[in-house]
Amino acid sequence: PSRPASLLTLFGATGDLARRMLLPSLYDLEADGLLPAGMRILGTARSELDREGFINLVTASLKDVRNDDAALRGLIERLDYRAAGIDDAASMQALAEAITALRSGDVLYHLSTAPKFYGAACQALAAHGVNGEGTRVMLEKPIGSDLASSNAINDAVAGVFDEDCIYRVDHYLGKEGVQNLIALRFGNSMFEPLWNARHIEQVQITVGETVGVEGRGDYYDESGALRDMIQNHMLQLLCLVAMEPPARFDPAAVRNEKIKVLRSLRPIGRDEVAAESVIGQYSAGAVGGVAVPGYVEEVGRPSGTETFVALRAHVDNWRWSGVPFYLRTGKRMPARSTEIYIQFRKVPYSIFGGAAAADMQPNGLLIRLQPEERIGLTLMSKTPGLDRNGLRLSQVVLDLDFHQEFASTRKRVAYERLYLDAIEGNGTLFVRRDETEAAWAWIDAIAAGWRATGMTPRPYQAGTCGPAAAVTLPDRRGHAWRE
Ligand code: BG6
Repeated sequence: PSRPASLLTLFGATGDLARRMLLPSLYDLEADGLLPAGMRILGTARSELDREGFINLVTASLKDVRNDDAALRGLIERLDYRAAGIDDAASMQALAEAITALRSGDVLYHLSTAPKFYGAACQALAAHGVNGEGTRVMLEKPIGSDLASSNAINDAVAGVFDEDCIYRVDHYLGKEGVQNLIALRFGNSMFEPLWNARHIEQVQITVGETVGVEGRGDYYDESGALRDMIQNHMLQLLCLVAMEPPARFDPAAVRNEKIKVLRSLRPIGRDEVAAESVIGQYSAGAVGGVAVPGYVEEVGRPSGTETFVALRAHVDNWRWSGVPFYLRTGKRMPARSTEIYIQFRKVPYSIFGGAAAADMQPNGLLIRLQPEERIGLTLMSKTPGLDRNGLRLSQVVLDLDFHQEFASTRKRVAYERLYLDAIEGNGTLFVRRDETEAAWAWIDAIAAGWRATGMTPRPYQAGTCGPAAAVTLPDRRGHAWRE
């Protein structure tokens, strides 16, 4: 069993992710008194900063987070910095000496660099003797861009760290709403009996973003929406919706159930892509009333990269046989929205003749993760009042808004949960190697199918819900996207 980390060594400490997400999360944990007493934080990157310079950078990236002088002082006290190049043995030697001097127990390494450096970084740690007993490593996505490249990275890291000391981040698992999905499914007895193909007609998972590529064009253009969003975040959401009840909320039990789902995904390959997938790329348009350029203008080169994907997936097992899982994600959508929608089957028979029968809609459970967290259950109820033709029915929503319900609590950033767990040595909300592999294998087949059939993204105007063909994808089964 691991002990709380005595030292967090952050590679890529001056980078964008560190400044936007990681340092603010550590600040929040500090403010809440959740960082282990005495734990030091050692930043490292190529930039030639000293401790003072790093403190300035950290302070600057925290200024909009909150104003808590005590927490800031507490965090600053923990900080140190060493400039190092992963491929520069002398600087790595100096870094290793700093690590040895600063640690008083376990060490958590967090690699927030380009993934191509993960292997070399781990090998350098081993070469300077700062791996082994009491060390663990946290890795950011993307781990590779296909199964082969992800295996190469995973193999290199596995040469230095045991699998149970490797914490692969999928920041969606750190989101409150995502953990709430687990709480909803397994903290209530009323959903589980209905949670199967007998009672569920279809599942929809949507991650719509209003942003474009946000200055990350070089990465994104190589990646595209399939690899950037579906391989990781959306398949993780699918796993949490579809998995069997784990015996415990612990790393082995939860991940053993998720991997079964990934291995049950029906392959979508060259013979299926045309019917089961739609891809798009945004052209110039307007989002929220603001004119935005098209994708090609944004990345500054001609490109066949998809910024939108819609898929019809199937989990081929007893629980889900025949139930389509529609997945949809895109950039430059009309609104930011992450949601899971479970549509139940229609009533087997309507006792209400005439108009009321036509009013009848199936029940639906909506789990909104972003921008706000809420759960809505749609039910049929009697329309109040009298009607000459008998009873009329209307759809009503039982709506639970978590910010109202828990009004006094602060909204958490995903990395707070993830850091806390990695610092404490709990891997439940991190991705195991077999999950990464199964997800990549499924994604590779889709990408190969697109290539083999010459499928290219259809244009959609920025600020719309993707290409028209995607809007009608569920139609082929008599379904429709929840609007
Ligand atoms: C990242 C992707 O993993 O997730 C980005 O690389 C995407 O392209 C982001 O914008 C979405 O995360 P969130 O937390 O804003 O939903």
